[in-house]
Amino acid sequence: MAEWILGIETSCDETSAAVLRRSEAGTELAGLSILSQDVHRIFGGVVPELASRAHVQALGSVVERALADAGIGLRQVDGIAVTAGPGLVGALLVGVMHAKTLAYSLDRPLLGVNHLEGHLFAPTLEDPELAPPFVGLLVSGGHTMLLDVPAWGDYRLLGQTLDDAAGEAFDKVAKLLGLGYPGGAPIERLARQGRPNRFRFPRPMLHELDCDGPNRYAFSFSGLKTAVLRVVRPVPGGEPAALTDADRADIALAFQDAANDVLTAKTAHAVEALGYSAAMVGGGVACNRALVARLRERLAGRARVSVASSRLNTDNAAMIAAAGAWRLSRGERSGWDLEPRDDLPLPGLVAASSLSGPTK
Ligand code: KG4
Ligand code: ZN
Repeated sequence: MAEWILGIETSCDETSAAVLRRSEAGTELAGLSILSQDVHRIFGGVVPELASRAHVQALGSVVERALADAGIGLRQVDGIAVTAGPGLVGALLVGVMHAKTLAYSLDRPLLGVNHLEGHLFAPTLEDPELAPPFVGLLVSGGHTMLLDVPAWGDYRLLGQTLDDAAGEAFDKVAKLLGLGYPGGAPIERLARQGRPNRFRFPRPMLHELDCDGPNRYAFSFSGLKTAVLRVVRPVPGGEPAALTDADRADIALAFQDAANDVLTAKTAHAVEALGYSAAMVGGGVACNRALVARLRERLAGRARVSVASSRLNTDNAAMIAAAGAWRLSRGERSGWDLEPRDDLPLPGLVAASSLSGPTK
């Protein structure tokens, strides 16, 4: 018998609902609706209060749309999964309240899902072969984490960013280059026209890979952003440099190369050190084709790299439904006292003991 799971995601600036159909044959994404809040573009970043209000206005219709896509009515929903954090607390609250109301009135199980666990599950919707053990690189606007995933629900933190998230670095550099928000996709597009090696930016913390210290798998992106700033505005507080479009494309490429080099080197090193044959990249920055191509090239013949399509890499409710369905199937439930938390930790997350060098 098939089971229908409704997922709801409102952690930031996408209002999203999804319906998954689970049966013995597998899990199928039956309906997905994502409404991106364009209002934030005017401000060059997400305005929390506006995000919450826009979620309130849109969520009911977004849920209806996902159900209609799946061809089911609310009464057929067997369980409800909702993002409970991390994210903007006011935005999360809209989704959590909506999910609670539906679960209570329909008398169905409710599950609060961690947004990052959602990103980890996203590729499984298109690549059913993705299964632990694997190394997971989570790169979004708010997080940059390298995880050893020996089993679902068992997450060992190899390293994370010490300052800016990878997506945040893309967004900040995009701003410096006068591109729109969010900046990842525009940087990638501009970089395609860039000439290689005209600029070279530092690869922060790359050399830490060679020493078995606590920062071996850690990342740092704020220095890289500052290095770009020094080219764009050579004298601090002074006039911006007169850059041509070609210069800006060269800068975008040099920045993207530097960021992707570090992300790729650390992920591939961890895969080799653990002796795994699979890796996944998740979160909005996983939309970056240059990053994925570089990682696939680096791990060719050693490990497969699973990445979802762009629609499922950026924030969406399908990934929340996928992670929620897995936890609901294990009998996990949230109570009516479920509260969103902006700093909700990934469940089952422990610090990984430092890995020794490559095993092969
Ligand atoms: O996962 P996500 O949708 O939201 C968060 O949970 O943060 O990630 C959004 C981030 C933004 O910083 C955006 O600039 C970045 O993902 N992004 C990209 C690309 N597409 C989106 N970064 C690099 N290259 C891209 N093509
Ligand atoms: Zn996200």
